[in-house]
Amino acid sequence: MQLDLNFIRSQFPIFQTDLGQKIGFFDNAGGSFPAMQVVDRLTDFYKNYKIQPYGPNALGTKAGEAMDLGRYTMAKLLNVSVDEMTIGASATQNINTLAAACNLIVTKGTEVIVTEQDHEANIGGWERLCKQQDATLKFWKVNPQTGELHLEDLEKILSPQTKVLCVTHSSNIIGTINPINKIAELISPMGIRLVVDGVSFAPHEFPNLDNLKCDAYVFSTYKTYGTHQGVMVVRPDFLEELEPQCHFFNTSTLYKRLDTAGPNHASIAALAGIGDYFEAAYNHHFSEKDIPLHEKTRKVSHLMNSHENKLCSYLLENINELPLRIFGKKTMEGREANISMKANNVSSNSIMEGLAKIDIASKHGHFYAYRLMQAMKVDDLNDGILRLSFSHYNSMEEVERCVDGLRKLIV
Ligand SMILES: Cc1ncc(COP(=O)(O)O)c(C=O)c1O
Repeated sequence: MQLDLNFIRSQFPIFQTDLGQKIGFFDNAGGSFPAMQVVDRLTDFYKNYKIQPYGPNALGTKAGEAMDLGRYTMAKLLNVSVDEMTIGASATQNINTLAAACNLIVTKGTEVIVTEQDHEANIGGWERLCKQQDATLKFWKVNPQTGELHLEDLEKILSPQTKVLCVTHSSNIIGTINPINKIAELISPMGIRLVVDGVSFAPHEFPNLDNLKCDAYVFSTYKTYGTHQGVMVVRPDFLEELEPQCHFFNTSTLYKRLDTAGPNHASIAALAGIGDYFEAAYNHHFSEKDIPLHEKTRKVSHLMNSHENKLCSYLLENINELPLRIFGKKTMEGREANISMKANNVSSNSIMEGLAKIDIASKHGHFYAYRLMQAMKVDDLNDGILRLSFSHYNSMEEVERCVDGLRKLIV
């Protein structure tokens, strides 16, 4: 079965606009379009009950119910309990809060491991924590040619002092999907906590956390067709070990413990729209009714994923001969649909501008994966690499147009 692209595009308001129809949008890793169901729920909240929720009045009750539905729907999508979930401003903010809360386990003389492959969101907060606690920050280094992480290199740096290991589920530059469960098998017996950055992975395959053996998982809902927020799941036994970062009188409410800012009511309510969107996509493609939302989402995610892989394979096959370096694997096996490249003779900026002239949106730079760029010896980090990041709503016509453009621009 294939993804019905006409149906999918009918679910996104952007494709009902002239500009949305014209532009082939390949900067999805920066933020995806929101689904209609999300926009509708957000608008409904703002129009009809945008007040302090849970108040003892009909409006407060409605607002509270809408927020609860947003929270519960997200928990159902991820297949976790609602108590384990923190919803914050962004993935970066959530990870920074988590790192600060680890001050009781990351103490003087202990170690935290981060990777060179990660976005700075999953490095900087840990570096600051280590400095503050007089602990050691160790880097799990990548292979400088490929940017890949290898388990043998991790084994060499693990020690009895290691308390936390932070790694990305997939790279926002080279696209490689890391073997999270294998990493967990290696480190869990040593009592090391595993923190996974799923921001780059989640838009391509909505995470089902019963399949992943990690202690904390973080991603951004503005990259998964939702509102601009970050969701963080922290398993209860880990959460219990952390220093609460909330008001002291809220510490008995598990999901508030790592909530530093107070929630964005309307945006949380609108998260229910992501569930509506997956439900609608499921009902359009499948007939079996009585299965949980996370299973429906998994089936839809597989369709999305194979559609993206088809488009990306076409891109990879057709730019292979051009004078450029392609980062990451040359086929879609074990990678997600983010393709990064650096041309030998043309700047990434001028390729981006050239593509924009034929209505192809791309982006260049270091994408905050600064350490990875340095490790892979990418020169001029301001120009950086050109990245084409796909979503399931992209079409083959857009990819063909993009390939034609790249052939003319990269000489
Ligand atoms: C892999 C990865 N991690 C973390 C982030 C930061 O996410 P947020 O903007 O929600 O803080 C990004 C953003 O692009 C990312 O690509």
